[in-house]
Amino acid sequence: MLTQPLVEVRNLTVDYVGANTVSRAVNGIDFDIRPGEAFGLAGESGCGKSTVAFALARLTRLPGLVSGGAVRFMGEDVLSFSAERLRRYRWSEVSFVFQSAMNALNPVIKVSEQIEDAILAHRPRASRAETLARAAELFELVGISPRRLDDYPHQFSGGMRQRICIAMALALEPKLIIMDEPTTALDVVVQRDIIEQICELKARFGFSVLFITHDLGLMIEFCDRIGVMYAGELVEVAPASAILTAPQHPYTRALGRSFPPLSGPRVRLEGIAGSPPSLSALPEGCRFSPRCGEAIPICVRLAPELRPTPATGGEAACHLLQ
Ligand SMILES: Nc1ncnc2c1ncn2[C@@H]1O[C@H](COP(=O)(O)OP(=O)(O)OP(=O)(O)O)[C@@H](O)[C@H]1O
Ligand SMILES: [Mg+2]
Repeated sequence: MLTQPLVEVRNLTVDYVGANTVSRAVNGIDFDIRPGEAFGLAGESGCGKSTVAFALARLTRLPGLVSGGAVRFMGEDVLSFSAERLRRYRWSEVSFVFQSAMNALNPVIKVSEQIEDAILAHRPRASRAETLARAAELFELVGISPRRLDDYPHQFSGGMRQRICIAMALALEPKLIIMDEPTTALDVVVQRDIIEQICELKARFGFSVLFITHDLGLMIEFCDRIGVMYAGELVEVAPASAILTAPQHPYTRALGRSFPPLSGPRVRLEGIAGSPPSLSALPEGCRFSPRCGEAIPICVRLAPELRPTPATGGEAACHLLQ
């Protein structure tokens, strides 16, 4: 594939700076998001997924600090954007839907006004009729009747409020939507409905998605490729289908075994023994080696690098593969 990636992340490093400590939450990771692709980030709690998402949107705030590497968006260096360029980047080019986004709606302002304000902030010359028409169109896109545009947030269910946030994220036709646990607070049926709707919208408008969820089954269904993170590093990147059928890294295998299968008979879930290391006491060598049932002597001495894995067409960082 010769098309330029939409997003190129190179050797990205993010620290959290304390009074006397620095925790490296993301340690030099590399991946691309292609145009129109849904890219998933998987991994246990605390492995750095949200930290990566924030860095991509240039939303890292102290004590967080992007201390190295590059993020390029359509070839442009995002980390050196001016304030003016950043305003355009956020919402018009990249938008964000968080787990708690639905609670970010202002309770005392009609949702129509909130959507119109979001549009006006970036398209100041739009007329009232234009913003209202766009708000109605967005409501229809996410399956809510435009007759409800004049309602207040509390008059909608949690699922509807989350759909409204997705509508707002779509308002300026961004090229990338970052979704960090966008449906986790919702029940399973509503969650699936919303994800299916995002899939349809993605097919129709061709935007890319960075998708983060703890539901590996949902991620595999929705994403084209998945990056698996462990303790601030990417250990494997592979087509979504290969994450369960041909996992190359022992951690990816362990993660797959700890999730219920999408189909077939019920099996006992194994979970992953032990817990991820603290960022202040990282093991030598491969960070997963203390929990890895397959570790060999070199694993505790030398950190493996991401290398191409011919079996999946992706990459993995494991000495057993080299
Ligand atoms: N504001 C902060 N100050 C200090 N450390 C932080 C801060 N935010 C995150 N961290 C640390 O950075 C690491 C990565 O956190 P992050 O929130 O990116 O993980 P995550 O993969 O998104 O986890 P989850 O699945 O629970 O959302 C963790 O060790 C976390 O404790
Ligand atoms: Mg997170």
